[in-house]
Amino acid sequence: MTQRILHVIGSPRGKRSRSVKVAQRLLARLVEASPGAVVETLDLCSADLPALTGPVIEGRYALIEGREVADEVRATWDRIGAAVAHFLSFDTVVFSVPMWNFGIPWQLKQYIDTITQPGMAFRVSENGVEGLGAGKRAILVASGALDIRPGAPGAELDHQVRFMQAWLGFIGITDVHVVHLRPTYGPPEAVAAAMDAAYASAEALVADLSRAPSV
Ligand SMILES: Cc1cc2nc3c(=O)[nH]c(=O)nc-3n(C[C@H](O)[C@H](O)[C@H](O)COP(=O)(O)O)c2cc1C
Repeated sequence: MTQRILHVIGSPRGKRSRSVKVAQRLLARLVEASPGAVVETLDLCSADLPALTGPVIEGRYALIEGREVADEVRATWDRIGAAVAHFLSFDTVVFSVPMWNFGIPWQLKQYIDTITQPGMAFRVSENGVEGLGAGKRAILVASGALDIRPGAPGAELDHQVRFMQAWLGFIGITDVHVVHLRPTYGPPEAVAAAMDAAYASAEALVADLSRAPSV
């Protein structure tokens, strides 16, 4: 079956983005490992995402309760539904995700807030929350000026990778892999070494994932 891969770009830095450079290497290897795979790019800094304004949020409850809503509110919810369906149509999602103020860039947070809708990305029943993204794989190419990997001093400031893992788990995606790209600030040789290590880690990850599971 054709693999569908989505590259979600959370950095506004275009070609200068380090997390995009590493993700592009990773994507190239994924395609080599899975010939015919289709890769689509979603650059959140140029994407026209629907806005969750007050009337739109109120409109959701009105729609659930079967009440009338304004045409533009209904149209916005149609666009949100399409954005969720688009996200859920992929087998693998690769995120280029820089750390911004210990968390993630607001463009990526806006996307997450847009698509994480009850009844669309997850549902709640008497058994608890069921994420509707179950069975998918996510890969985070996580960049940061500081090195706050697990175990490093400052690791408790990580609201970037840990948030992404928590959110993905909430929508049912538990097959999550992380390529750390850090530190990206400091002496040029330290930054170059971080890039080399991230490229190597991306390649090793794809090699690992491509190995047939042993039975
Ligand atoms: C607004 C802003 C906030 C940032 N905050 C942090 C931070 O809290 N911790 C950190 O390690 N790096 C921080 N950085 C640095 C970026 O994470 C780093 O430059 C990263 O390599 C950017 O990835 P990119 O090249 O893919 O955009 C910040 C950068 C910006 C622009």
